[in-house]
Amino acid sequence: MCGKTSILRLLLLLVAFLGFISGSKSQTTVFDIPEDSSGIPLANEEELSNQNESGLLLSNDPRHVAFYLYPNPDNITDNDVIMIGNSESLSTSRYDAAKPALFIIHGFLNNYTTRYSQTVKNEFLKQGFSKTLNILVVDWGKLATPANLTAWLSQIHDPLKDLYYRASVNNVPKVGKVVSEFISFLISEQRLESPANVTLLGFSLGAQISGYAGKFVKQNNTILIGRITGLDPAGPLYQSAPANEKLNANDGTFVDIVKTGTADFYPNGGGPNQSDCLDIGVELVPNTISGTCAHNRAWIYYLAGLSKNITACACISQADPIICRMFCKNKVRFGFHCPPTASGGYYFDIYAKDP
Ligand SMILES: *[C@@H]1O[C@H](CO)[C@@H](O)[C@H](O)[C@H]1NC(C)=O
Ligand SMILES: *[C@@H]1O[C@H](CO)[C@@H](O)[C@H](O)[C@H]1NC(C)=O
Ligand SMILES: *[C@@H]1O[C@H](CO)[C@@H](O)[C@H](O)[C@H]1NC(C)=O
Ligand SMILES: *[C@@H]1O[C@H](CO)[C@@H](O)[C@H](O)[C@H]1NC(C)=O
Ligand SMILES: *[C@@H]1O[C@H](CO)[C@@H](O)[C@H](O)[C@H]1NC(C)=O
Ligand SMILES: *[C@@H]1O[C@H](CO)[C@@H](O)[C@H](O)[C@H]1NC(C)=O
Ligand SMILES: *[C@@H]1O[C@H](CO)[C@@H](O)[C@H](O)[C@H]1NC(C)=O
Ligand SMILES: *[C@@H]1O[C@H](CO)[C@@H](O)[C@H](O)[C@H]1NC(C)=O
Repeated sequence: MCGKTSILRLLLLLVAFLGFISGSKSQTTVFDIPEDSSGIPLANEEELSNQNESGLLLSNDPRHVAFYLYPNPDNITDNDVIMIGNSESLSTSRYDAAKPALFIIHGFLNNYTTRYSQTVKNEFLKQGFSKTLNILVVDWGKLATPANLTAWLSQIHDPLKDLYYRASVNNVPKVGKVVSEFISFLISEQRLESPANVTLLGFSLGAQISGYAGKFVKQNNTILIGRITGLDPAGPLYQSAPANEKLNANDGTFVDIVKTGTADFYPNGGGPNQSDCLDIGVELVPNTISGTCAHNRAWIYYLAGLSKNITACACISQADPIICRMFCKNKVRFGFHCPPTASGGYYFDIYAKDP
């Protein structure tokens, strides 16, 4: 979806994130996490240990968040690491103050080398966007990866009960704060004019991180982040969380969200029936994670929108997507090229394979 309040929804009956069906109606909220002085909830180590979650992930330390700049369309692995507070790492990097910044932010079980981050970054490079954007990949992999993958794999994959996922959720506000601090650092080093020149592109828990980054930027600045695109923001533990604990339309100037549960964009009418996805509401293979195929379609469709003109039809409120399609009007282009004036719900048909 595009627009100030618009949300692109897949409308999976499965909960967005891991698509665990039976848990999707749960009233579970993000558990009580401490707040920072301005009321933005922020987990800390003490809380983590109280919840018996310390040690589950590779790290809970926000100092393990890293920023990789990819400036070279001729070499997709060529990058510069930029560290907050380290002026030299910035001045010796190829970060270009004349261009706005795009931050690609991954989700649970991922890091900057895994599929979402690399595929999206590579497509932006391939399309020539390094000429007009500083393309950054945020790595919070240590805070999103179980220390013992065997132990994680051997448990039942109900994200509402998954302690590893919960621990990762607890790291989300901290990572959002680090992203905000990085933006402040770029501004203080006069490499960035304002948060208006920033786009955050977060998938799954990365979308929730983008929301927190937006809240912290708002707390520290008069200008909001220019654009936050949330690609199917993680659902479990966020479904019934209050607005200050999840990505919402007030976190940036233009917030477009591909969201499972309450959205305005209906790819293929929404729901788990997405191109080539077999995980339509059932655990096809015991102990595997259903719904991930449709979940991943959020960023796969977004990628398709980078190079193709994918047109979406405006829907009146939560109108039946079939009706939206029938009386297609107020068309907007879906994805990166969606104009910031777009708002409300949209429907579009799309077929896109796994890259
Ligand atoms: C915390 O984890 C340890 C080790 O996994 C376990 O033995 C203990 O019962 C847990 N404590 C609580 C309060 O859940
Ligand atoms: C691409 O960049 C990487 C990292 O800087 C470097 O090791 C590699 O040699 C480069 N490849 C080419 C073909 O230049
Ligand atoms: C930053 O954003 C402002 C306000 O939208 C705009 O006028 C300016 O051209 C942008 N600067 C860059 C480098 O993109
Ligand atoms: C990223 O995650 C993959 C898959 O879990 C893992 O194989 C790889 O070592 C990780 N890389 C980094 C740099 O964390
Ligand atoms: C990882 O978890 C598996 C399964 O619970 C366990 O058998 C193994 O000992 C653990 N490995 C380590 C290094 O703790
Ligand atoms: C808020 O701004 C100050 C001053 O620029 C900066 O040092 C700090 O890191 C910022 N905090 C966040 C969360 O962005
Ligand atoms: C899924 O979508 C395809 C193509 O639109 C359609 O033929 C099929 O009936 C749908 N399946 C379900 C279960 O809705
Ligand atoms: C995209 O397609 C729509 C109609 O399908 C058209 O109105 C619009 O001009 C096209 N936009 C671009 C940038 O090609």
